[in-house]
Parts: sequence; structure tokens; C-alpha cells
Amino acid sequence: MTFLTIDGLEKSYGKVRALERISLGVAEGEFVTLLGPSGSGKTTLLMSVAGFTEPTAGRILLGDQDITRLDPEDRDFGFVFQGYALFPHLSVADNIAFPLRVRKWPRARIQARVEEMLALVGLEAMARRKPAQLSGGQQQRVALARALSFGPRMMLLDEPLSALDRSLRDSMQQELKRLHRETGVTFLYVTHDQEEAYAMSDRIAVFHRGRLVQSGPPREIYARPANSFVAGFIGGNNLFTARHDPHSGEIDLLGRRLRLGHLDPGLHCADGKVTGWIRPEALRPGPAAPGELELALTLEDISFAGTGDRLFLRSPDGQPLIASQTSGPTGPAFRPGPITCAVHPDDIGFLPARQT
Ligand SMILES: Nc1ncnc2c1ncn2[C@@H]1O[C@H](COP(=O)(O)OP(=O)(O)O)[C@@H](O)[C@H]1O
Ligand SMILES: [Mg+2]
Repeated sequence: MTFLTIDGLEKSYGKVRALERISLGVAEGEFVTLLGPSGSGKTTLLMSVAGFTEPTAGRILLGDQDITRLDPEDRDFGFVFQGYALFPHLSVADNIAFPLRVRKWPRARIQARVEEMLALVGLEAMARRKPAQLSGGQQQRVALARALSFGPRMMLLDEPLSALDRSLRDSMQQELKRLHRETGVTFLYVTHDQEEAYAMSDRIAVFHRGRLVQSGPPREIYARPANSFVAGFIGGNNLFTARHDPHSGEIDLLGRRLRLGHLDPGLHCADGKVTGWIRPEALRPGPAAPGELELALTLEDISFAGTGDRLFLRSPDGQPLIASQTSGPTGPAFRPGPITCAVHPDDIGFLPARQT
């Protein structure tokens, strides 16, 4: 059962088309993330759902109610936006109570609810503090408690963790997942960080230049990217061009001429060029094991990336490739120059024609 329906939504600012015919359904209780680079239209879509931005065309439905032109306060959504700051002169408890006072809840019910929300975000001891006396992570927890206090029909969150440092962001991601699980509220979440989207979402909707280019569960987005933008930017894959001969069934792939029987003929472009991808972690220095494919590459550079090393490689036909490797404390024993690498054919993907 679809809870929120976004149907052919468009938004233009003069000549800028911020959203082009966006259609997306969200199920009740689902955690859906809008993922895309800066300027791809994520905030515009979230603000349209919130009611702060009026779409140029299309509809937004909640259940079977058309809410496209409903006032934001009548939508009963909870917001946590970038810069949607706490009231600095109000205590933590009064910040959380604010939406309840606006809704004229009785005093005793407000008090009980504030205590419940403080416990939910683990800030019982901070109830009387002012926002300035809290850390960034604690302030963001208060903002979450305030947005959840009145029992919103849905939560809308726009990059709520982007101002926090790396380790705090990781723990807040877990906290947000827990809040989602414990409240059962539907979450529509915006981020430009693919790891954050992978870690938190039931489903990811990928945005590129105002368009929704793919939506699906995180593992599906990662394993079966629909186009080169998703494969490259979102999936962090190596993209390469190969040439396929439909008569012989052979393919020129990174300096090798191969027979790839499983390659779907539906994937081929008319001129025989195909775009493929290889995961950096699937490209491994060393000779091929049985069933693997061996590539003769050139190692141009090595950089240390904390969790491992990144090898900057080039194929005989001049295409750049990156291999990531876990490495020990002394680093890899490679020198720039010719290098043999292996990859399993299952770790090479090809993109559908026309969508590359
Ligand atoms: N109020 C506005 N006036 C004019 N252009 C805008 C306005 N808001 C957003 N845009 C443009 O719409 C596009 C999408 O913006 P936005 O939704 O903020 O992207 P994102 O949140 O993905 O970074 C961008 O090109 C942006 O410059
Ligand atoms: Mg934005």
C-alpha cells in the first residue's frame, strides 16, 4: 500500500528545471533516501512534500488525499532540516514541548510526552539546558525529538548529519535507524553521501540533474546500476568502454580479446561500443585463478586510503582503472610499471544501451 505518492512532479525556476517529472511511491513505515550530488533537486523535492515549495506541475498524495496545495502546518509532518535550528532561548524540554503547545495539548500530557521523548533520545539529564550548552550531536537529537514529539504522519530530513564530524555521524546514523524502528514513522531522508544512504535506507532514490534515475534497495543500486552515473558516482565503480563484434561474439576488453557468451545482446549499442564497470575491490594484483580473467596493466601510482591502498592503473588501450586493496602496516610491495591483475567475470558489469 503506497502511503506517499509523488506523481509527475515538476518544478522550474525560470529556465532552471529543478525537478523533471518525478514519480515515486513511499510505503508506510519505509525509510526512503533521496541521494544525489549538490544541485540535483533533492531539497526541492523534499520542500515540495513539506509544502514550502509550490510545484509547477504534478501531484502529491498522502493515502488518497491530494496534499499538493495544503498548508505545511496542516500536513502534520516532522522536519529536521539543515539550519532548521533549535529555539536558542528555550530549554531542551521547552523546545520539545513547542509543537505540542502549538497543538494545544493539555499540560499534563505535554509533560509526559516530553519525558518520553527525552528518554527516546537519551537526554533525560539535559532537560533544563539551553541549546548553546549542548554538543552538535546533542542538539541534533533535540531537533529529532522535537520533530517526533507530536506523532508526525511522516518525517522529512534534509542532510541532518552533514555538519557533524565523521565518528559522530556514524553513531547518529545508528541512532536515526533506531528511532525509525522504534517509532514506525515513515522517513523521507536527503543526503549526498552514498555510504550514509547505503547504511540507513530501505530504499534509495537516486537523483541526477533534476531527474529520478533509479530507485531500489541499496544492494540493488550497488549491484545493478541503471546507468553510468549510478555505476560511477553512486557505486564508486571503474567505468570503461569495450568494443563488441556481434558477428564473432568477441569483445575487446581492456586490451584482451575475449568471448563473453553471457553478455546480453540487448545491451549493445549500434556501433558495437559498450560501457562496462568493475568494482575497485574486485580488481586484484596477481595472476588469475581458474575461471578468472587476467589483465596486463600498468601501475601508475599508489595512494594510502586508511582502510587500504588504492592502485591507479591504466589498461593497454589507455583507460584508467582503480583497484582497492586491504593492506598491512608496511603497505603493498608494488612499484610503478607493468603489473598483472585478475578479476572474476562476475565482477564485471555492462550497462544497458541508451542509458549510458
Ligand atoms: N529558490 C530558487 N531559485 C532559483 N533556483 C533554485 C532555487 N532553489 C533551487 N534552485 C535550483 O534548483 C536546482 C536544484 O536545487 P536543490 O533542490 O537545492 O538541489 P540539492 O538539494 O540536490 O542540492 C539547482 O540548480 C538550484 O540552483
Ligand atoms: Mg539540498
